Amino acid sequence: MEPVNVAIIYYSATGTLHTLARAAAEGAEKAGANVRLRRVAETAPPAAIETNPAWVQHLRDAADVTEAGLDDLAWADAVLFGTPTRFGTPSTQIKAFIDATGPLWREGKLADKVYSAFTASNTAHGGQESTLLGLGNVFYHWGGIIVPPGYTDPVQFRSGNPYGTSHVSGGGPPDDVALEAARFQARRVVDTTAALKAGRAARSADR
Ligand SMILES: Cc1cc2nc3c(=O)[nH]c(=O)nc-3n(C[C@H](O)[C@H](O)[C@H](O)COP(=O)(O)O)c2cc1C
Repeated sequence: MEPVNVAIIYYSATGTLHTLARAAAEGAEKAGANVRLRRVAETAPPAAIETNPAWVQHLRDAADVTEAGLDDLAWADAVLFGTPTRFGTPSTQIKAFIDATGPLWREGKLADKVYSAFTASNTAHGGQESTLLGLGNVFYHWGGIIVPPGYTDPVQFRSGNPYGTSHVSGGGPPDDVALEAARFQARRVVDTTAALKAGRAARSADR
């Protein structure tokens, strides 16, 4: 069977989500998937970016990551979305990308794929779950198959978020637990998608 195609599509202003996205890409690759790591376009005005040196620096550091396009969604069997928490909701940048998917959605090309999401916030109760559940609304509308990590691996009892990998960035960059949770989440997405893909192939061969 063809390997699973996984797109990891994320936004990061100051690098936290970028680090988590790279860990997810590692996990997906190790699980045997073809992986596209993609950052969504920056939509904030330069004047806003320039107020934060870490934002300016990260834009430079991530310049070599290919920008996400609709073709990445069409290509993927599974998509992991990463976004910082912004007042308890996904960032404008990831939402701008999602809001451009109407044509694909209309053609039914977003349905039946596997979706999962990860996030970070500055504080421990800063809205991680509401952000992940907010992205989940989109996946429902697309007719997606949502694969959360749950408590299906020992790392989940340490990271503590069954909705998706999350990190409290106020304590520093993603630690080993967050990185392992991201790798695990991606692996679970790949394994579930591979099972679905094999089942669908067997079913169409029977017909
Ligand atoms: C406009 C804005 C809103 C934010 N809202 C929240 C929030 O509701 N809760 C929280 O804990 N952190 C909040 N944060 C902090 C970010 O979620 C946090 O720093 C995140 O880890 C940044 O990820 P990044 O380094 O990938 O950009 C906010 C940051 C900004 C700039």
